[in-house]
Amino acid sequence: MRLDKLLANMGYGSRKEVKNILKQKKVSVNNSITKDGKVHIDPSTDVIQVGEDTVHYQKYIYLMMNKPPGFVSATVDDKEKTVIDLLPSNIQHYNPFPVGRLDKDTEGLLLLTNNGELGHKLTSPKKDITKLYYAKIDGHVTSEDVNRFAEGLELEDGYETKPAKLRILIAGESSEIEVIITEGKYHQVKRMFAAVGKKVTYLKRLKMGMLELDPSLKNGHYRELTEDELTLILPKKIADE
Ligand code: URA
Repeated sequence: MRLDKLLANMGYGSRKEVKNILKQKKVSVNNSITKDGKVHIDPSTDVIQVGEDTVHYQKYIYLMMNKPPGFVSATVDDKEKTVIDLLPSNIQHYNPFPVGRLDKDTEGLLLLTNNGELGHKLTSPKKDITKLYYAKIDGHVTSEDVNRFAEGLELEDGYETKPAKLRILIAGESSEIEVIITEGKYHQVKRMFAAVGKKVTYLKRLKMGMLELDPSLKNGHYRELTEDELTLILPKKIADE
């Protein structure tokens, strides 16, 4: 990889700004100052320094966020605040994107990465990745609803959902539930409850596949996935590429 591209990718500015840093003799490769941005670097063996900083090159980033309400799961939006706005600029320069969507008012586990292949694998309808949600429901959720979710039910547009596991935590005039779905259709959980005549008043994603939301992560906060968490969601093949 070219030195100027690597520095730009690592957040040392635009290509033009990087050119200036090089001109000012601030960059060294293996302890020798270089002003040439075109030199090819092997990030796994070459030691690159900018001033006092040693540059630790990282191609991919994998973040877990506890998405707060009021933010859209997109990288840019004309009107709304996006989940990317919650990240500092030293993380934004990796160009992460949210893997799958949570509605603006939905909270909880959101994975962000710049690894397009992983993003594709986790959202592919063929993969049947399970998603666990906790929800508050306006209405009395019954065992009949549990059976209807288990059988798969018809949404208002005629779409037949795949079987879903509904667990009642509290049943009453307003209920609390957990539901596991394998699909990610638009407003899926809300529409499934609408199909049984009930309204979701609060929705939070707790788990995607084997990856669980860190309960210590406050609303709007994020952290990088640990190595162990990464192996739960990332096939070895993609990680090594
Ligand atoms: N189902 C929904 O209705 N909304 C979400 O944000 C996620 C799943």
